[in-house]
Amino acid sequence: MSEALLQVSALTKHFPITSGFFSRPVAWVKAVDQVNFKVSQGETLGIVGESGCGKTTLVNVLLNLIEPTAGQVIFDNIDLFSCSKEELRTLRQHLQIVFQDPFWSLNPRWLIKDIIAEPLNVHLKLTPLERVKRVEELLDMVGLPNDAVFKSPHEFSGGQRQRIAIARALALNPKLLVLDEPTSSIDIFSQARILELLKDLKKSMNLTYILISHDLSVVHHMSDKIMVMYLGEVVEYGPANDIFNRPTHPYTKALLNAIPDITTESLEEISELKGSVPSAVNPPTGCRFNTRCTKAMDVCMEKKPGISDIGYEHTANCHLI
Ligand SMILES: Nc1ncnc2c1ncn2[C@@H]1O[C@H](COP(=O)(O)OP(=O)(O)OP(=O)(O)O)[C@@H](O)[C@H]1O
Ligand code: SF4
Ligand SMILES: [Mg+2]
Repeated sequence: MSEALLQVSALTKHFPITSGFFSRPVAWVKAVDQVNFKVSQGETLGIVGESGCGKTTLVNVLLNLIEPTAGQVIFDNIDLFSCSKEELRTLRQHLQIVFQDPFWSLNPRWLIKDIIAEPLNVHLKLTPLERVKRVEELLDMVGLPNDAVFKSPHEFSGGQRQRIAIARALALNPKLLVLDEPTSSIDIFSQARILELLKDLKKSMNLTYILISHDLSVVHHMSDKIMVMYLGEVVEYGPANDIFNRPTHPYTKALLNAIPDITTESLEEISELKGSVPSAVNPPTGCRFNTRCTKAMDVCMEKKPGISDIGYEHTANCHLI
């Protein structure tokens, strides 16, 4: 649990907004700005934040699906943005993703056996018999029967389709699995079972996860560490229990206040977070949360807060600390 499998430094992604005949950039969407974090082998890092805060952009850059504007990513001792084609191939094998909606991520015209075998065909030279065996093994691992192989995605429920997507992502024995809202499009009963399956697989395959979710209780249940993002920046990071027991950044506190629990007496109590997220094209100067923060001071309008260490690997970026 100590060695960093993934080390991300000053990662930045700005999308251009273009205009005119020559498509010149006239402005930039600051989707991810100067993000630093690490994920240790065997750990689950949960990433939370409101819609549009840059979670998917961040993982798309990590998975090399889009180019970064700046920054460095070291995965398994390989520098993602300056490695050879051969290293990139190995890296792709070990870094896999499960998308939010299994309906769109599975080709509806393919049989399950072909969907799961696709990464095997691309990366490994297996005989047809070896391939069939591996597909059956993967179906077994995700709790689906062998006769699923000759069916199409539409013959399965949302939860089962997500199991198929997980089987495909695990086909090459990856080291790190990125789960982008893996249960948000499936029914609540299947959600709990998928989360338990992911926990079991993590243990049996010695996996490392990055889990993105709007649902803080899901993130708390699954994660060792939590990273809270706001408007493209990290505002708080730390051990999951510590973040829940002593949230420090006003944004994290507001997110946690928005979760109803047994002690919640009225609806007013659970709606601490007011207003909407400002545009990522023109984020507020100083602290990006200053337009919604009930504790904002003059300094917050001018100066970006630095990172403050509050002990036990817990950090927050706020002038109050
Ligand atoms: N290809 C793109 N071109 C321009 N802007 C983009 C592009 N992709 C994302 N964005 C913008 O970048 C910001 C971050 O978007 P992103 O999808 O990463 O957020 P998110 O945290 O994953 O949101 P959600 O919780 O809704 O999935 C948003 O302002 C979004 O509009
Ligand atoms: S830096 Fe200021 S505006 Fe930002 S979260 Fe802290 S108190 Fe609020
Ligand atoms: Mg997203």
